[in-house]
Amino acid sequence: MTVYQATTSAPVNIACIKYWGKRDTKLILPTNSSLSVTLDQDHLRSTTTSRADPSFKKDRLWLNGEEEEIKEGGRLATCIKEMRGLRRQLEDQDASLPKISGYPVHISSRNNFPTAAGLASSASGFAALVASLAALYQLPTDASRLSLIARQGSGSACRSLFGGFVAWQMGEKADGSDSYAVQVAPREHWPDIHALICVVSDDKKGTSSTSGMQRTVETSTLLQHRIKHVVPERMQKISEAILARDFDTFARITMQDSNQFHAVALDTDPPIFYMNDVSRSIIALIVEYNRVAVANGGKLKAAYTYDAGPNAVIYAPKENIKEIVELIVKYFPQAEAFKDPFGLFGTQGVKG
Ligand code: DP6
Repeated sequence: MTVYQATTSAPVNIACIKYWGKRDTKLILPTNSSLSVTLDQDHLRSTTTSRADPSFKKDRLWLNGEEEEIKEGGRLATCIKEMRGLRRQLEDQDASLPKISGYPVHISSRNNFPTAAGLASSASGFAALVASLAALYQLPTDASRLSLIARQGSGSACRSLFGGFVAWQMGEKADGSDSYAVQVAPREHWPDIHALICVVSDDKKGTSSTSGMQRTVETSTLLQHRIKHVVPERMQKISEAILARDFDTFARITMQDSNQFHAVALDTDPPIFYMNDVSRSIIALIVEYNRVAVANGGKLKAAYTYDAGPNAVIYAPKENIKEIVELIVKYFPQAEAFKDPFGLFGTQGVKG
């Protein structure tokens, strides 16, 4: 008996130009383009196994060993349905292929990063889900094509199908067919950039990205300014900075965009606060670190960015990472530098 099963994994990505706002909530079409760095291959990944079997009664999914409901018409069901549709097209074209699109699937997904890292796992999770179904169904599709489907699981997931520096082009079409991810540059283009993750809190965030960004779209006037007058130029400039390996420009834009994202969260009614006092103290530390470097005739040495939570991600050239960890441990005495079994380098327990 043939077993139809495939296992694939996908990493987490952290945005430098933030996705925040949907123009279509069902298809997950964004109000602006975004750009991220996919974290290194072995760190912070979701690994997913999919199996199709005629004896299964229905589609089922387990996340870190716990079964999740696959709601009809929901994001998981949409991704599975879309992938199955692509397989069915292949089977229609080639009668020799086994008709596995008709079999229910069982899917099991695990994250290799400690839950304590407090990092969003929907990006790596949906990217790994789509990649594993593509392998199961032996679909000859490229990553941008698959990103159209991962996007419908979680917007930021579309960027995790590529490594390195990745842009999600917002697109213009109502059907979403031009809203997909493309690689700006592979990781090898700029291996010197490292990401340091400072775990400020591993509490579950108060306002989810999905509901928070919807409220911002409905109430923030600042978001309208951001969409029209800020992001298009930043996308252009940061892409050029990446291609030129210009850390100074990359860092400046990354920090400005993190600040503006948190400003639109504050401009939402009622306001949303994702950073806390410790997050703001880390910003002050990086600002001072950069100020001293520039005052001494140098360039920016680090860039902070924050997603929908208080944890800091600091991008910096490799040579500065040790110094930055030492600074954090010095100013946040409860912080411990850690290197987990997967080689993730960060600090945890960063408290004021
Ligand atoms: C702040 O991709 O989690 O991390 O599409 O509703 O699932 P949904 O939202 P999600 O939002 C991510 C928001 C962000 C910025 C980013 O990753 O670009």
